[in-house]
Amino acid sequence: MSNNIESTLHETRKFAPPAEFTSLAHISSEEQYQQMWNRAKDDPAGFWGDLAKEHLHWFKPFDQAMVGTMPNTKWFVGGETNACYNCVDKHLSTWRKNKAAIIWEGEPGDTRVLTYQDLHREVCKFANVLIQLGVKTGDRVTLYMPMIPELTIAMLACARIGATHSIIFGGFSADAVADRNNDAQAKVVVTADGGWRRGKEVVLKKAVDASLAKSPSVQKVVVVRRTGGEVQMTPDRDYWWHELMDGASADCDAVPVDSEHPLFILYTSGSTGKPKGVLHTTAGYNLGTMMTTKWVFDLKDEDTYWCTADIGWITGHSYICYGPLANGASVVMFEGAPNWPDNGRFWEIIEKYKVSIFYTAPTAIRAFIKWGDEWPNKYDLSSLRLLGSVGEPINPEAWMWYHKVIGAERCPIVDTWWQTETGAIMISPLPGITSTKPGSCTRPLPGVVTEIVNEKGEPVPANNGGLLVIKQSWPSMLRTLYGDHKRYEEVYFGKLPGLYFAGDGARKDEDGFYWVMGRIDDVLNVSGHRLSTMEVESALVSHPLVAEAAVVGFPHDIKGEGICCFVIPKGEIPADEAKKELIAHVRKQIGALATPDQIRFTPALPKTRSGKIMRRLLRDIAAGRESAGDTSTLEDFSILAKLRDDEE
Ligand code: PRX
Repeated sequence: MSNNIESTLHETRKFAPPAEFTSLAHISSEEQYQQMWNRAKDDPAGFWGDLAKEHLHWFKPFDQAMVGTMPNTKWFVGGETNACYNCVDKHLSTWRKNKAAIIWEGEPGDTRVLTYQDLHREVCKFANVLIQLGVKTGDRVTLYMPMIPELTIAMLACARIGATHSIIFGGFSADAVADRNNDAQAKVVVTADGGWRRGKEVVLKKAVDASLAKSPSVQKVVVVRRTGGEVQMTPDRDYWWHELMDGASADCDAVPVDSEHPLFILYTSGSTGKPKGVLHTTAGYNLGTMMTTKWVFDLKDEDTYWCTADIGWITGHSYICYGPLANGASVVMFEGAPNWPDNGRFWEIIEKYKVSIFYTAPTAIRAFIKWGDEWPNKYDLSSLRLLGSVGEPINPEAWMWYHKVIGAERCPIVDTWWQTETGAIMISPLPGITSTKPGSCTRPLPGVVTEIVNEKGEPVPANNGGLLVIKQSWPSMLRTLYGDHKRYEEVYFGKLPGLYFAGDGARKDEDGFYWVMGRIDDVLNVSGHRLSTMEVESALVSHPLVAEAAVVGFPHDIKGEGICCFVIPKGEIPADEAKKELIAHVRKQIGALATPDQIRFTPALPKTRSGKIMRRLLRDIAAGRESAGDTSTLEDFSILAKLRDDEE
């Protein structure tokens, strides 16, 4: 028995990039990648310093590209820049001035297109509105908004004047908004009456009203009229966006800020306790998201790029706003859900705007599989040239479906591993050169030095599971947890001093490709064998009856931990016989050590609003415990009740 996590996923399929794709790609040869990667490892300051000089605008040049070591590295020290300038103003002196920056579609089907020039005007006006409301460089502004262009405008307006934005996903409750407002001591909240989701209004302003009773730092509220729903406006505190914008000047210089000036705070849930306010700073984040967008998505001026995330999550911050706009891209932004008015909505949008790069999450892909191929098959998806995945490990079967049904076996898939804390993509195929393997996020990008280590921080041999760590500082890394630097050092560097521990288990195969197994807290220990829940899930999903599966451990007298599988079937809930068949299937796929102790069929799984399965809740159910933890992000509470009723 070893202390390492045993890896049982044996995936051998390999897909080389099409020659035509390679010939046109930004990174088009293995030598180019090796050369970039080695230089960045040996001379990170030189590598990133050169890119920063070339790609960012400097009001004042930096003196040193990199100072100090993790956890307290500083990047581009002494320099002054502005993230809004780099995303918007920079393009105005080029032909991109009249290029579409944001191609927006609302859920009801209304559309708006903003060119870079339009975006500049709106951002300048809103920056002046913020100044008029008393916001100063260094103040915090909360954005609690639907997926409408005003959200991007507000983010960039904050960046323009050096205010730090804190975006709260629209699905969070009033209490969650109050907690975050208080933690950040936000001065202004920007919101909307509501937004549209599956034909219904998601009310936002009312939640803000309730939160303000508990968050005294907030002095002013700006409200976008989106749905026309009823709102209460409190005099001298609440203002309509359109009324303030009417009188605002479109002249507002971008404020030069220090490279390490706080750009935004984004709250992310820890496995327990109070949310962590991940703080990102200006220049390093700006550069990291810009370069990774270019390398990983092979972004070209002709592309129509669509990332389906909500801006309330890091994926939206980095790959709807800062990364693509810094590159001068045309970015599709969509307000609604993938299954409204029907299950074909995403494919309809791809056909309508001729989307060429599509970036989504495995949880969405599994839903598409469940809804059936007839939906994508109804639409012309031939404009697509590249597909991306993010947020959780993608099961090989889901990868293959994405490759065949959406990519028509033509589009490379970039499975991108990263985190709120890393700011930008860390491990991912480079689509022009990497031969992808379904389920692997492949190799670290230039500037990213990763390793798989054991509990002592020692590297483990190839194909052994272990802890995924990053060994060298990178420009877009978080700098602290807002207001709690000690917690930052403990959470990320406390386990293995000097190494950034990402919290994930993974293995590296004989080609140096990474296979992420999921959060280390999701690892099972069955009879002394540490198994990845994700690998058992993949085995289940490879059975034709199964649409989605979530596997958790529960206390077991003999084995230490038993394996409990929550399974969403493709059709109706099958007869009990099917449970035996699935158990046999997992045994066959992985081996007897992974024999499930329980299979529970369920029509749905409890998920956070960002689509992550809430394993903590499933663990409680599997163990027969009442769930005591925080469920404020749970998508559908009724699922919990159903799962409990089903208990044998
Ligand atoms: O466990 C990994 C998983 O998502 C975690 C980070 O979550 P969050 O900060 O919410 O950011 C999500 C968007 C970047 C990671 O620790 N994860 C993310 N991408 C992948 C992944 N797991 C496997 N493969 C991925 N491509």
